[in-house]
Amino acid sequence: MNLNTVFAPSAEVATELLTVFAIDTAPKGAAKPEIRLLMPEDAVTPAVQTVLDGGEFKAEPSETLLLHNPAGLKAKRLLIVGLGKAAKLSPHEVRKGAGTAVRFAKPRGLREVAIAIPVAAELDPKLTVRALTEGAVLGDFDSDTYRSDRKDRSVQTVQIVAPPSFDRAAAEAGLREGVIVAESQNFARALINEPGNRLTPTILGQRAAGMCREFGIQCEVHSTEKMRELQMGAFLSVTQGSDEPPALIVMRYEPPNAPASPVLGLVGKGITFDTGGISIKPSDNMEKMKYDMAGGAAMIGAMRAIAQLQVPIKVVGIVCAAENMPSGKAQKPGDVQIAMPALGKPGKAIEIINTDAEGRLVLADGIMYAKQLGATHLIDAATLTGAVGVALGQINGGIFANDEDSYQRFVDGLKLSGERFWRLPVEDDYRDVIKSTIADIKNTGGRYGGAINAAMFLKEFAEDTPWLHLDIAAVAWVDDAKPWSASGPMGVAVRSVIEWIRTYAG
Ligand code: BES
Ligand code: MN
Ligand code: ZN
Repeated sequence: MNLNTVFAPSAEVATELLTVFAIDTAPKGAAKPEIRLLMPEDAVTPAVQTVLDGGEFKAEPSETLLLHNPAGLKAKRLLIVGLGKAAKLSPHEVRKGAGTAVRFAKPRGLREVAIAIPVAAELDPKLTVRALTEGAVLGDFDSDTYRSDRKDRSVQTVQIVAPPSFDRAAAEAGLREGVIVAESQNFARALINEPGNRLTPTILGQRAAGMCREFGIQCEVHSTEKMRELQMGAFLSVTQGSDEPPALIVMRYEPPNAPASPVLGLVGKGITFDTGGISIKPSDNMEKMKYDMAGGAAMIGAMRAIAQLQVPIKVVGIVCAAENMPSGKAQKPGDVQIAMPALGKPGKAIEIINTDAEGRLVLADGIMYAKQLGATHLIDAATLTGAVGVALGQINGGIFANDEDSYQRFVDGLKLSGERFWRLPVEDDYRDVIKSTIADIKNTGGRYGGAINAAMFLKEFAEDTPWLHLDIAAVAWVDDAKPWSASGPMGVAVRSVIEWIRTYAG
């Protein structure tokens, strides 16, 4: 997709489809909406006044109204997109609104659209352009790559229309950042969409390495031999049932202007297919377990963005990629595995209760390795538990933290990313549930609080290092399309991880 900014009154923009945004300014409890277009006075409002007065359009979020040959405009079509109540107006609504416009154009075969930047006192110019850009790029994504009847309906050009008086620097910066962030999120989504046979751990490693080459990130992809050398007994135990070799993907972003510290460690779960192993999953919905690498993909996407944004902070990204398969070589419930040791300390002994709790095993060694590589602050992302969906539904991802400063930075970042995470506890009192009688810990903690139990397991490996854990199992894949987004892989956590990293750049 090609995006460019045009500084001109919207009425003068020649386009297949001009999109303008509208809000409802009526006070709470009012009998009918009062619609206002979010643009400085120009010829658009008169062109639609009669329709707006008619009351059929309420400016609800993602509501659309199409007019052909609007009077006095150069545009062939005018699309009004609702952003909801004035009191709730924010760049997040603009992100969805722009996505709605692009997804309105796609099935109609319109290859070019113009979107007028909404102007309102409560909308910061740069953040608004950024959100608008992100919405357009994210809205263009579809996951139909393997359909032979697929008609490429992607929108090729988006003109972002700024009133002539608009802050040019803000528009340029917002556009540039928005493209980087959203394309990185779509990069992650495309990886997540790939089925297990077409995205093995090895192939995921190649994709990550290719991306790193393109954006000047150092990358090494290791496999079994190096993992043995590092004594990654937990990660190796998950891989042993599969004929596909694992991939330990290590991405290092070390810009010359970065201070020695902090070093941010991103760790992603990269299970390219999760059958459950010997504790095999039921067949129903098992096909979905191709997205069990969504956390790893999110970290790869985040690395891509921060390198392009040239964030002056050292970041190391680790993705632990493997298939979890049953076979004559697979690990069994009851087995004991020794995780990667820290310098001068033995590795922790883990009793395997359920081979389907494999994510925490690969992450345990990923976290240990990130620390060994110098990470001072950790964040992991993983489709870790079904239980997080039981707790939080499919709206918020789960976040767990052992450090308030790091958590607060993440929460600050959410205001920019627009993503949603809800905190769950990792208090020491929960630790009893993962005690083992024959080893240091066990890999499951019983029926209650499954998402917390998994987090408690990871916390054992993060130890004193500030650590955030994102459980995205219930939000990484969405079955129903939204007006602003395709169904399927969401690329969740990419934007929030980027913003969290950026807080360290001051
Ligand atoms: N990959 C799954 C978690 C998952 C479930 C992701 C649904 C996406 C959608 C994970 O490896 C898993 O199997 N977790 C088990 C843990 C249990 C055995 C303690 C689970 O949630 O059932
Ligand atoms: Mn599993
Ligand atoms: Zn899994």
